[in-house]
Amino acid sequence: MKEQLEKLKIEAMAALEAAADRAALEGVRVRFLGKKGEITAILKQMGGLSAKERPVIGQLANLVRADLEDAIEERDAVIEEKELADRLLNEALDVTIPGTTVLIGHRHPMSIVLDEAKDIFIGMGFSIAEGPEVELSVYDFDKLNIPVGHTVREWQDTFYITEDESVHLRCQTSPVQVRVMERTRPPIRIISPGRVYRKDDVDATHSPMFHQIEGLVVDKGITMGNLKGTLNALVKKLYGENTTTRFRPHHFPFTEPSCEVDVRCFSCGGSGCRVCKGEGWIELLGAGMVHPKVLAGCGIDSDIYSGFAFGVGLDRMTLLRYSIDDMRLLFENDMRFLRQF
Ligand code: PHE
Repeated sequence: MKEQLEKLKIEAMAALEAAADRAALEGVRVRFLGKKGEITAILKQMGGLSAKERPVIGQLANLVRADLEDAIEERDAVIEEKELADRLLNEALDVTIPGTTVLIGHRHPMSIVLDEAKDIFIGMGFSIAEGPEVELSVYDFDKLNIPVGHTVREWQDTFYITEDESVHLRCQTSPVQVRVMERTRPPIRIISPGRVYRKDDVDATHSPMFHQIEGLVVDKGITMGNLKGTLNALVKKLYGENTTTRFRPHHFPFTEPSCEVDVRCFSCGGSGCRVCKGEGWIELLGAGMVHPKVLAGCGIDSDIYSGFAFGVGLDRMTLLRYSIDDMRLLFENDMRFLRQF
């Protein structure tokens, strides 16, 4: 029995050595020390021993069991350490692996042109003003000298919000002129970019929502010369030093005199092409000297002060700038289009 015990001990130590993880270790413990384990089985046979042998074998068996328990504990510690090391290795972050690409957006072509226009005007001493898109008809019409009954006030052109026609989606950025003049005293030099709304069907050159940049200058001694100089500077900065402009008489209720400004077609140089629809000129903006009635309505004395205003279509400016021939492209959010800017 003594040899049996010693053989078991050697076997147990070898099995321990081979146990690579916690589960295998537990297997070894059960196999040798468990209730039905091999050492337990030997101890159970001790009843058949002589009184002289019993304590000797008993002592040896206990010693083997104690050694085995110690060895299991030791092995357990080794395995735990190894498992921890393995886990740390597996969970380690490899900073050299390329990251997943994040799609980085960029400015919309209209934002690019707007930022350029803002830079140009800020460079000339203008500041940026804003006004509401849901506007009072008083500001978009009455105070701009557009009386009740005027065609632009009709329901087929304007998105009214209220039945009584007192509130609507602004159809131009000009009400910002009035808002600024009511709260600021001259000298005034502002531009006001923003969305405007008109009941137009969508096609290559129309959209029920588009963008304007309104400009307003009011001070002593402001003349049409200032208007022309300012707009020429804008056009040359936007479309090149050699760009030629043409000022044509026009009518707007809130300016007097009024004009429309065309630029010589930069695509054909004026001989007529697809871009200018054979005209040689491209219509760019409306402008004029602020009507004395409008100044007076805002509490500005038109005997002392004069001013000019203009409204330019940002969408149009963008189309021309990048030779885009369909306005719908600006609003469709097609990545194949937007990626090109
Ligand atoms: N508001 C005018 C339009 O929408 C443009 C304009 C602005 C004309 C300012 C003159 C002065 O057509």
